[in-house]
Amino acid sequence: MNKSKRKVVIAGNWKMNFTPDEATAFIGAVKPLVAGKDACDVVFCAPYVTIAAAQAAAKGSNIKIGAENVHFAEKGAYTGEVSAKMLTACGVEYVIIGHSERRQYFGETDETVNLRTKAALAAGMTVILCLGEVKDQRLAGITDEVVSMQTKLDLKDVTAEEMKRVIIAYEPVWAIGTGLTATPEQADETCGVIRKTLETMFGKEVAEATTIQYGGSMNEKNAAELLAKPNVDGGLIGGASLVPEKFQAIVDAAQ
Ligand code: 13P
Repeated sequence: MNKSKRKVVIAGNWKMNFTPDEATAFIGAVKPLVAGKDACDVVFCAPYVTIAAAQAAAKGSNIKIGAENVHFAEKGAYTGEVSAKMLTACGVEYVIIGHSERRQYFGETDETVNLRTKAALAAGMTVILCLGEVKDQRLAGITDEVVSMQTKLDLKDVTAEEMKRVIIAYEPVWAIGTGLTATPEQADETCGVIRKTLETMFGKEVAEATTIQYGGSMNEKNAAELLAKPNVDGGLIGGASLVPEKFQAIVDAAQ
């Protein structure tokens, strides 16, 4: 596996944190800490109402700002939702889709994740597609089947060309916000299963070029070991993306 073919992406998922003022202060603090660290792309995905403030604060830096979800319709009667066209009109290039919290608490399914993914790609966005097994599935020994199935369903009818704008975040649900982390070996192995699945869907070239992040309690202490693994091409970071020094340490580990 040739890791040099892939872009390393360190992305923060702020979840439901930071008002516009708090985002401005945070980006102001983290900007100098990650400046010039160009061995990885740096992205923060923000709540919709915080995006504009984060973008303004990040202007002229190597930090990119994304959204945390997007709807699949272009417009219409979908109260509370935001379309890809609206996001791109606001200069938003990245969007997280299929986060386990969306699947768990807001009824998202592989089908809606697939629809959202296709809509975002059609609008020219880059998608950070989240998938991963729950604890019972890992204990039952069906992790490989679960992530392979999610990969196939979530990326159904996506083209090889569009895959250039897909980042996959492997996030074992049992590791999110729990302080439990997959071991580097577990993360590498499951990211490898996802890559194999991509190979069956899109061919070897696409599989080898696709960035697959690990997410789930990645922090300043465990990042270096996780990122050293051949199939782990970055991180999607929750809690540690809210603390400038912790996030910096993860970006440093990716250099
Ligand atoms: P934590 O890093 O807080 O475990 O969250 C991971 C995550 O859900 C990123 O999307």
